[in-house]
Order: sequence, then C-alpha cells, then structure tokens
Amino acid sequence: MADTTTLTTHVPTLEVSDIQATVLRPRPSPYLGQYVILRIDDAAQGREMLRRMIPHVAPADEWWVPSLAGWLGIAFTFEGLKALELPQASLDSFPIEFKQGMAARAAILHDVGGNAPANWEYPFGTTDAHIALAIYAQNEQDLQRVLELARRTHHDLAQISVVYRMPFGELPEGRNPFGFKDGLHNPQIEGSAPAAHGGSDAPIKAGEFVMGYPDQLGETAQAPIPAELRQNGTFVALRKFHMDVAAFRRYLREQASSSEEEELLAAKMVGRWRSGAPLVLAPDRDDPALGADAKGNNDFSYADDRKGLKCPFSAHVRRVNPRDALKDDIVDVDSHRFIRRGTNYGPPLPEGVLEDDGAERGGVFLLIGAHQRQQFEFVQSQWVADGNFISHGTEQDPLIGNNEGDGVFTIPKVPVRRRLHGLPRFVAVRGGEYCFMPGLRALRWLAGLGEDAEQTASH
Ligand code: HEM
Repeated sequence: MADTTTLTTHVPTLEVSDIQATVLRPRPSPYLGQYVILRIDDAAQGREMLRRMIPHVAPADEWWVPSLAGWLGIAFTFEGLKALELPQASLDSFPIEFKQGMAARAAILHDVGGNAPANWEYPFGTTDAHIALAIYAQNEQDLQRVLELARRTHHDLAQISVVYRMPFGELPEGRNPFGFKDGLHNPQIEGSAPAAHGGSDAPIKAGEFVMGYPDQLGETAQAPIPAELRQNGTFVALRKFHMDVAAFRRYLREQASSSEEEELLAAKMVGRWRSGAPLVLAPDRDDPALGADAKGNNDFSYADDRKGLKCPFSAHVRRVNPRDALKDDIVDVDSHRFIRRGTNYGPPLPEGVLEDDGAERGGVFLLIGAHQRQQFEFVQSQWVADGNFISHGTEQDPLIGNNEGDGVFTIPKVPVRRRLHGLPRFVAVRGGEYCFMPGLRALRWLAGLGEDAEQTASH
C-alpha cells in the first residue's frame, strides 16, 4: 500500500457532507434494516444503477435530520469495482487485503475449521458479491420505503441481480443475543461531532478512519488512485456471525455453582457485565446504573488493574482494545482502532432455554477503518486468535475465539488463578467481505466512469 507523506499538525474539518453517514454516525435506536448484496454483470448497467442510487445515500451531516426516516450506505468489493470496469491502474492501487478479499486471508484471520470460507453462506467469499447495501430505518414502514427506492434503482436492469438479503433489527434493551448491552464504545474521531460516546479517551486522528486526512503518523493516504476516488472514502470489514446462545448458557451453567457465579463468569469473558458496566469499575457485582450511563460506562482504563484481577487480560473488551494495558509494550494501541457498527439479527432465545432451537441469530459487524491490515486484521489475528501478547500462549478470545471444544480461559485470581478448559465455539463466522466505502463525490465519479475522457486514474 502506497500511503505516505503530507505532514500536518492542524485539526482538519471533516467534510461530513461527503462522507457516508454509516462511517461517522452511530445507528439510531431503535433500529431495523436490511443488508442487500448485488451482482453486476454489465458495467454500464452497474453505473446506471449507481446514478439512480446516489440521491438516496446518506451523508454523515444528515444522519440526525429528523425527517430522514430511512437511509442507505453503499460499499464495493474488489470484484464489484472490477465489474464496474474501474481502470486497471486504479484497481492495482488498492491495498493488498482488499484486492485479495477476506476469504483469501482466512489463514491470517484464523478463519479455519468450522469458520473456514468453505462453510460460509453464499455469496460471501465468492466472485458474486459486488455491492453491499446497508439500509437502516426506525420502523417497518420506512424500511419498506427505502427498500422500494433501492429496488427501483435496478428493477429494469436485467444485468443487475440481488444475490443476498438479510434483515436485522434491535433486540429488547439494545442487547445482543448473548444478553450483553452492545454498541457502547467507539473511538473518538478528531474533527467529528457529536462524540461517539462520553468516555474520556483522547481523540484519534481522522485519517485512521477516513482517507484524505492525516493519520496518527501525520500521513495522508496517497492510494488508491485517483484522489477523487479515495477522498472521504474508507474500508469496511463486514463479518456475519452466528451466536450459539444455548452453548454459552450451558457452559456458564457447567462452570458455575450459582446463578450469581454464572453472571460473574459471563462478565469475566466479556470484560463488562451484561448491563454494560465495565468490570474494572464494578469488579464484584453488576452496577446497572453505571451500565446505563453512556459517559461513565466508557470512562475507564486498566491502570488500576495491572494484574487483571478485576478484568482478565483475556476478556473480550480488554483484548480488542487494551487501552493503557499495554503501555510498557512497543505496541501503539491507537493504530489498531476502528469504528464498529454492529447490528443483530434473529429472534432472542427465550430466557432460561439451554437447548439450541435451530434458529439463526447473531450479529453483523461493519469494522471500519482506512488501514485494515493494522486495524481489523491485526486485532483479529494477534489479539483475538492468539494469547501471546498477554503471555497466554495460544489462548484465544473466550467469547469470539475459534475454539473447538479445546479452548482455555485464564482468570487471574488470588491466591491462585482459575483456568477454565473445554471452551466450545460460541460464535461462528457465517461470512465476510472487505469493502470500499467511497465518499459521495467518489460515488458520482464511479457512476460517470467511461463517459469522461478526462477521467483517468493518474494521481
Ligand atoms: C459475535 C461477535 C462479537 C460479540 C458477541 C461481541 C461482543 C462485544 C461486547 C458485548 C462488547 C462490549 C460493549 C460495546 O462496547 O459495544 C464489545 C466491544 C468491542 N468489541 Fe466485540 N463482539 C464481537 C465481535 C467483535 C469483533 C470481530 C471485533 C474485532 C475484531 C470486536 C471488537 C470490539 C471492540 C474494539 C470493542 C470495544 C472495546 C472497548 O470497550 O474498548 N468485536 N464486543
């Protein structure tokens, strides 16, 4: 990847009217929506569809407009850009992980065994997934309206097909299927408002998340080319997970001698209680008021928990964002941050049920950042699928690790630590794609490809 230079120190104002809403703004609550994946078999028809789609793509500054009842975000796989006949020089200038695609990176991501791409749902990992649409609304009527607008962009274009459709929606109290409050923490992006959450962590340079601005090293992306295409664009790692809620409950039941202990174990695995209250601030029992306090529940560090006695080193949130816990290491944690937009799907498993009902339920995550190799890929391969960085050998993330009944989870404790064995896979990968999410001007540039002789990929 050839992204370098242009040192700047001033805080840039983000062009929020050109950046897609999905990048900068949290999803609303309540939310419901649909992911749609399209295949393009004719470039001219693909561009015609794009021209019709652009007026419905929400920019970040309009996210909060009360009249915006539903909106869509749009992103392209490498296969999709090829199908639109992007000039070769431009295609070549994209980062390697995007060009290869997520399935080809399975060994790096530890997507092996049950999580291997051979087990993914169609069209993930195939050459048929070209354009991903994320459509959000606050109610069913608005969702149907936006879906109809999206349908009309290609209903008369025979060479455009819908190859995947997936509805999603918020579960009661904004919980995920395992029962944890989610969507709580995201990085603060310098120059963007409103703040993603009320925590006190320092803002991260915008260039880590959106191209066209300086990143943590003071560098501004120089690829992909041309500049019109990359300005205000970013990359999205889309991951669809199935959550085996019954297996999670059974495991807790087997390892604990009371329901209180089950709750504590669940919190130790995640690093937060189901209410959202972080373990470092509420180590012994849940604090629902803290969980509900958007500022308080993100205002924590690991400075007072160097031994992991409150929040285990291996807990999900401590692994995926160690905050100040790796301070003495050479790792620059801030270069491994990304924006998370998670959505849940499927019905909740009724309280107390310990047997799987066969329903598909889980989450689809959009992990957004300008440097995916340093961001999603690094976190997934080094911090989720390995334990070396916390001196835990090959121990994986207890919640989302790719365990096959042989997983281990270490809980620091005085006088002796507790080590759980036999962790199964609670979370299975159903599919994933790397996508490019352009700014709105870049979308128009893509839609106009082939029409303008001046439009060459030269810078
Ligand atoms: C089914 C899969 C997953 C589940 C059930 C899950 C669950 C959770 C929960 C409950 C939280 C705490 C609440 C919040 O901040 O939203 C959280 C935080 C987080 N998760 Fe996940 N997660 C999943 C997948 C992933 C993946 C694949 C990544 C990246 C590789 C990831 C990265 C993060 C990050 C960065 C945080 C914020 C940590 C912090 O507080 O600083 N998660 N996750």
